[in-house]
This record gives sequence, structure tokens and C-alpha cells, in this order.
Amino acid sequence: MEVVVVESPDEAAGIVADIYTSLLTRRPDAVLGLATGSTPLPVYKELIRRHREEGLSFARARAFLLDEYVGLPVGHPERYREFIRNELEQHVDFTADAILGPGDLDVPPTEAGGAYEEAIGQAGGVDLQILGIGTDGHLAFNMPMSSLASRTRLKTLTPRTRQDNARFFGGDIGQVPTQCLTQGLGTILDSRHAVMLGFGRGKAQAVREAVEGPLSSRWPASVLQMHPHATIVVDEDAASQLS
Ligand code: F6R
Repeated sequence: MEVVVVESPDEAAGIVADIYTSLLTRRPDAVLGLATGSTPLPVYKELIRRHREEGLSFARARAFLLDEYVGLPVGHPERYREFIRNELEQHVDFTADAILGPGDLDVPPTEAGGAYEEAIGQAGGVDLQILGIGTDGHLAFNMPMSSLASRTRLKTLTPRTRQDNARFFGGDIGQVPTQCLTQGLGTILDSRHAVMLGFGRGKAQAVREAVEGPLSSRWPASVLQMHPHATIVVDEDAASQLS
């Protein structure tokens, strides 16, 4: 695991965009793992800029999302697939159907996990997985106490997660889905390069536990200690509890 401490999210975006650029230059048909949330946004912004100004192309790339709510209709603004469409896909040159989320398969949610793992496997596995970390150390919807060996699966969202996410649904917890599909921690470990980003003091404890704490499902991101190629890119605030 390598830890890179930067001064700002924009500096992180440049470093992470360099990783994408080098991969896509070497392997234009690379398989990308995409995350939602606020953390990767500066990276997506920089990738869009490089596409427009420097010819960075995603035309042969494919991508898989980390997670998705269950039960939101296609086109719902809080659907993670919609987020990726708005924040990245529609601004670059991915081909139609190049991006798949765990909620996009034509199977019941109980079968979606296995089908999604199969789709990732058929694509050859994820070359570069970008990740954000939750303040409690979660990765995707793998909350504390998730199995470190977990695979993509249907999960019931905890009342706390639904309450935390209610702000995106007009403050009404009743509008927040009760279930989600999420890649497992074992699935994330299978990516060939995982890049986890963390910005702000609110992430400092989670970053410390992920990087320096014991490997523990109490802090799911600590699973990255077992990843053969993990890069942690954090700003000074998020790095403030590292020794
Ligand atoms: C993203 C995801 C989550 C977020 C995490 C941090 O697909 O599943 O793990 O990365 O909740 O969220 P932000 O980036 O909004 O702080």
C-alpha cells in the first residue's frame, strides 16, 4: 500500500488522472471501476478536461459501478448509474453500454450479485478501481462488520445509512430505498489497482484505521492492506491522524 499526501483535492485529481491516462494509453480497452459520492468528482472533472483538451479517450474502455440502490426507477436522479452518466459518461466518449452497474442486469435483485460478478469476470476483471472512504471506514455499501471476503450481493440498508442518505432525498427517510446492491470487499480486492481517495478532517480517523489499524471488518477499508496494489491519496486533513 502506498500513501500519497497532497495539498488539495485538485492536486489529487491530477495524480489520479495521470494513473488513468497512463493505463488508457497502455491499454485503451482497460476495465475501470467507478465510484459515486463527492470524493471522486475532482478526478472525473480532470478526466473530462483531459478528454476535451488532450484527447484522452474512453472509446474502447469499459466500466463497472461499485454499487446501486434497489428500487429506484431508471433515470431517478439519485440512482448511482444516473450520477455516473451526469458526472462523467455524457462528457467523454464511452460507447453505449460500456458502463454497467449492479442494478442494470435483467435479473431479480437476489440474482444480481452473481450475475454482476460474472459480467466483471467476462470483461477480464477491473484494472483500475477508484474508491471513496466513508467516515466509518465503509467502502461501497460494505458497512462496518461486512465480511472482508464478501462478493457482490443484495443488502438491506441500515437505518443509520438511510438516515445519513436522506439528505439526498429531500430529507425524507421514507424516500430512501431499503436495499442496495454492492460489490463486496473481496470483489474490490480482485481489482488490479485500487486507488482510494479521502479528503477532509472528517475522514481522518477512517484513513488512519484503514492504513495503520489492524485488518478488521470494524473498519472495512482496512481490507486494502491485503490488496497487492493499493494507492491511498489523501489531503493533509484526511492524513492528519497518520503517524
Ligand atoms: C461510492 C460509495 C461510497 C462512498 C463513500 C464516501 O460509490 O459507494 O463508499 O465512496 O460513502 O462518500 P463521499 O465521497 O460522498 O464522502
